[in-house]
Amino acid sequence: MTFAATANAIVYTGAEPYFVDVDLATGNMSPELLEQALVRLGAAGESVAAVVPVDLLGKAVDYTAIEEIAARHGVPVLADAAESLGATHRGRAAGSFGRASVLSFNGNKIMTTSGGGMLLTDDSDLASRVRYLATQARQPAIHFEHTDIGYNYRLSNLLAALGRAQLSRLDAMMARRRDLRELYKARFAEVPGVTVFGADGDAEDNVWLSSVLVDESVTGWSPSELSATLIAADIESRPLWKPMHLQPVFAGARGEITGTSEQLFRTGLTLPSGSSLGEPERERVFAVIDDFLATRMR
Ligand SMILES: Cc1ncc(COP(=O)(O)O)c(C=O)c1O
Repeated sequence: MTFAATANAIVYTGAEPYFVDVDLATGNMSPELLEQALVRLGAAGESVAAVVPVDLLGKAVDYTAIEEIAARHGVPVLADAAESLGATHRGRAAGSFGRASVLSFNGNKIMTTSGGGMLLTDDSDLASRVRYLATQARQPAIHFEHTDIGYNYRLSNLLAALGRAQLSRLDAMMARRRDLRELYKARFAEVPGVTVFGADGDAEDNVWLSSVLVDESVTGWSPSELSATLIAADIESRPLWKPMHLQPVFAGARGEITGTSEQLFRTGLTLPSGSSLGEPERERVFAVIDDFLATRMR
């Protein structure tokens, strides 16, 4: 349950992604299924290079469980914290778990540099190696000696400056997103069959995106009907990430698949969540939702 970039990065290295389904309450990697995957692959004598959990929509995974399982199987954790800057797990910052983790500063993220991201690690040898590879693998020689294939993955200085300004506003931007989350919680508390996804125990989340899960057998309407009504009013909404094992490009990939991510994809809808939504925009979103519910709940 992630954006394709997580799985693409695995393929870039020549490795094969092996997908692990998620817990229903969080959409994050299920520790039980991870254990099952590592036991299965270990028994088959397959080499597992890394466990790559994803902090879905700004909720940190259960790193306590995931790190313990990965360590027991001798596999490093590389955390995809692209969506979770500002979130914590048991008081410790998302992005500080695993051997290394990555953040995204893409335009849709909680803070942005328009594009780019950051790799975080407290392993100084790994940090040097990453800096070297990310800046074209130049050996320290005046004529640019190369003994490795390098990459141009450096964040530019200008974008880094933009990032520093954004970072100074991170807490305020998270607070605005949380405000909006609370409004959605209050609004949908009155609607049988609708829950705000991951809202139970979201105190440590950065609340990047707010989504609802719709039980159509109770509501009588589907997430796509709400979405269509919002789109007709020029308001964007989206399903949750389409699970990777359903993506044509990863057809045939192996994994521990239970159907939970598919269920979240089928029943979820992400609502306007941005920190730049002002009072008039919020009112407009809620007016359209109220109208929709008024006609459907009669
Ligand atoms: C979970 C996840 N991983 C990776 C990425 C990719 O980040 P970027 O767009 O900065 O390459 C994104 C979003 O873009 C994401 O949501």
